[in-house]
Amino acid sequence: MRGGGNILIQNVTKVFANGNGQEIPALAGINLEVRAGSFISLLGPSGCGKSTLLRLLAGLEEPTSGSILVDEEPVEGPHYSRGLVFQDPTLFPWLTIEGNLTFGPEARGEGISPEVVEEFLELTGLSEFKGMFPYQLSGGMAQRAALARVLINRPVVLLLDEPLGALDAFTRMQMQDELYRIWRARRTTVILVTHDIDEAIYLSEQVVILTPRPARVQKIIDIPLGYPRSRDHPDFFLLRNQILKMLHLTQPEPEGEFIYTI
Ligand SMILES: Nc1ncnc2c1ncn2[C@@H]1O[C@H](COP(=O)(O)OP(=O)(O)OP(=O)(O)O)[C@@H](O)[C@H]1O
Ligand SMILES: [Mg+2]
Repeated sequence: MRGGGNILIQNVTKVFANGNGQEIPALAGINLEVRAGSFISLLGPSGCGKSTLLRLLAGLEEPTSGSILVDEEPVEGPHYSRGLVFQDPTLFPWLTIEGNLTFGPEARGEGISPEVVEEFLELTGLSEFKGMFPYQLSGGMAQRAALARVLINRPVVLLLDEPLGALDAFTRMQMQDELYRIWRARRTTVILVTHDIDEAIYLSEQVVILTPRPARVQKIIDIPLGYPRSRDHPDFFLLRNQILKMLHLTQPEPEGEFIYTI
């Protein structure tokens, strides 16, 4: 693995045009520093600007103002050292899993040995399925293949935009464990966008809460739990409540004396 993966986001704004001559501010002065090798999650209301921030980090869009540095170098376009995985696995349908994995390195003219391909198939639990085509895969397998295709480039930063959002609850929990295992094995910096508060608490060292659009950093919450984590740890409940309050998703406390009648 390459070293690094330090991210420094300074005063980043992004303003879009809506097509009617109006401006839509999506990000308003984001400041965030992410240490190499950390796992952070971004949580915020729908439409607040989370995907926009990931796209800027991936180099698919440019900030309107401010700067994004990865290992002290400005992000100036997409690069395979910053891998992006979406909710939809977007595999190449005409290639097998193995073909999907080797596509990137081969397109760059890098030779890739069968041992390395095997290493990443194993890392993502896909060795037995390498000859299969995307349409033959379950949702969880397809998402693991999408991860493997990005990981084989040995990214220093892994950008995940609701990668487990389309999976059923059970597969999703299994995939959260897979993500944890992969993060530990590769030690890459992970930025996960999710709507699932439990997923954010289960996986991340820090949860970054964003305000409604235009997004700013509202609060950074440390998750002081060791790894591997247990979903029934009593602090989970407290952290979940703290985050729900931040997102204004809890009901106000009833005023005065309240008598519960069963
Ligand atoms: N290319 C674009 N052109 C114009 N507006 C855009 C563009 N991309 C994003 N936006 C706008 O920026 C805002 C933030 O969008 P973004 O996709 O980043 O939100 P999000 O937080 O990822 O939402 P969700 O949780 O629903 O995925 C939205 O109002 C969206 O319409
Ligand atoms: Mg989004």
